[in-house]
Amino acid sequence: MDAKYCLIPCLVLGVVAGLVQTLGEDLDRPLFGPPGSPVKLLDSDPGLKKAVLFAEERYNLGTNAMHLRRVSRIISASKQLVKGIRYTITAELSNTQCKKSSMLRTCDFYPESHKLKTEVCLFEVWDIPWQGSSTLLRQKCHPAAESSPKETNSVDELVPPTSQALQEQESVKLLGMFKEFMVKYNKGYRTQEEADQRLQIFHQNLKTAEKLQSLDQGSAEYGVTKFSDLTEEEFSSIYLNPLLSQRNLHRPMKPAAPARGPAPDSWDWRDHGAVTSVKNQGMCGSCWAFSVTGNIEGQWFLKNGTLVSLSEQELVDCDKLDNACRGGLPSNAYASIETLGGLETEADYSYTGHKASCDFTSKKVVAYINSSLELSKDEKEIAAWLAENGPVSVALNAFAMQFYKKGVSHPLRIFCNPWMIDHAVLLVGYGERKGIPFWAIKNSWGEDYGEQGYYNLYRGSKLCGINQMGSSAVVN
Ligand SMILES: *[C@@H]1O[C@H](CO)[C@@H](O)[C@H](O)[C@H]1NC(C)=O
Ligand SMILES: *[C@@H]1O[C@H](CO)[C@@H](O)[C@H](O)[C@H]1NC(C)=O
Repeated sequence: MDAKYCLIPCLVLGVVAGLVQTLGEDLDRPLFGPPGSPVKLLDSDPGLKKAVLFAEERYNLGTNAMHLRRVSRIISASKQLVKGIRYTITAELSNTQCKKSSMLRTCDFYPESHKLKTEVCLFEVWDIPWQGSSTLLRQKCHPAAESSPKETNSVDELVPPTSQALQEQESVKLLGMFKEFMVKYNKGYRTQEEADQRLQIFHQNLKTAEKLQSLDQGSAEYGVTKFSDLTEEEFSSIYLNPLLSQRNLHRPMKPAAPARGPAPDSWDWRDHGAVTSVKNQGMCGSCWAFSVTGNIEGQWFLKNGTLVSLSEQELVDCDKLDNACRGGLPSNAYASIETLGGLETEADYSYTGHKASCDFTSKKVVAYINSSLELSKDEKEIAAWLAENGPVSVALNAFAMQFYKKGVSHPLRIFCNPWMIDHAVLLVGYGERKGIPFWAIKNSWGEDYGEQGYYNLYRGSKLCGINQMGSSAVVN
């Protein structure tokens, strides 16, 4: 069933270019110098074989399909040296006769072609041999039968729309919506050509939002948002942070002691004065800083009794363990704050969304932390801990967030691989709405995103990896 639900037809385009641009600079930093140029690979390449096995395993973890799927054909593959090796693989995946529960690795494909249910996927696997680690950076799949990925470069996707190609009526309606969008979000484009390109992207995004809508299992509404003129790759490179799924970069933290009591049915720290107003990270991949300050604002409030808005810019400028606008990890940020001696206020060290030289002075510190904790991965325990101890820094796969407007978002699991976490946020509460359990998530994309800046995600099935990276600072 997942094959026919696959959303995005041709995201193979632009993905590679986008990654080189956005990740390359981070990934190459310490070891290899600038990323090497991509080298095409033969199917027999041993490194490629290993990367394919890894991608298959992650792929199967991320779907609800009953049968294991395996790569039946490699369409193209290349590798690139980027602090390790990054493999880019386009492959056909097909059902095997193995039920997932059996977890055998020697399963054969179905001999009958109608049972194969083939998909074409693009995988990006980042292998760091000397650390013995592999990470799935990207996974984009679509049914093979409908269309095969175009072997063209990203420029083709952005060819201006031929308005003749659109049905007359539809195009009038589309133009109306686009103009409304431009006015509402104060968008301007420099050239007619750019406006045409953005209209084309807007149109594609409407279709994506419609599909998300038709497949949502919760109560969410998806549609036009302020991100509706960005391709998924642009959105991801500007606002998201794929390094979050790079587990071996995480600094180990002490495990948190379990909550003393069971979780109340619902809880919301906004009703208890522990949450500042929604902030805006701008065009900077600094979500990790906002997630961490949000947690510390809560911890400080519970310790000290005053709610102070704390500085993300201090972390963007002064946290040497993280990568400012190119991403970071909460576990590093806590350690940096301990080293620095604390955080200044938002007002004293205000946010610009660009990295500048560190302007921190310990005289202005208003909140400190003494250590940090890693939370349980059990959502019930996270809820109980949150209700007792304050808002929690978490991270998730942000796939369903670009076009989210309101309600409880419950995307199909196949779209929200829990192993591809790319956004850090703040859990401030949980509860049920019309019988649907949800997490209330404070985001950092401004108050004009979602429900006054908040996103609500289905709770209880570890959706989008929301349970994977819960953490908190400790103030003694
Ligand atoms: C709360 O924090 C402020 C600023 O750091 C400090 O001046 C004040 O003494 C603290 N109050 C308590 C009760 O800890
Ligand atoms: C917690 O950290 C603050 C600031 O670094 C320090 O002054 C304080 O002594 C620490 N508390 C404990 C109990 O270690």
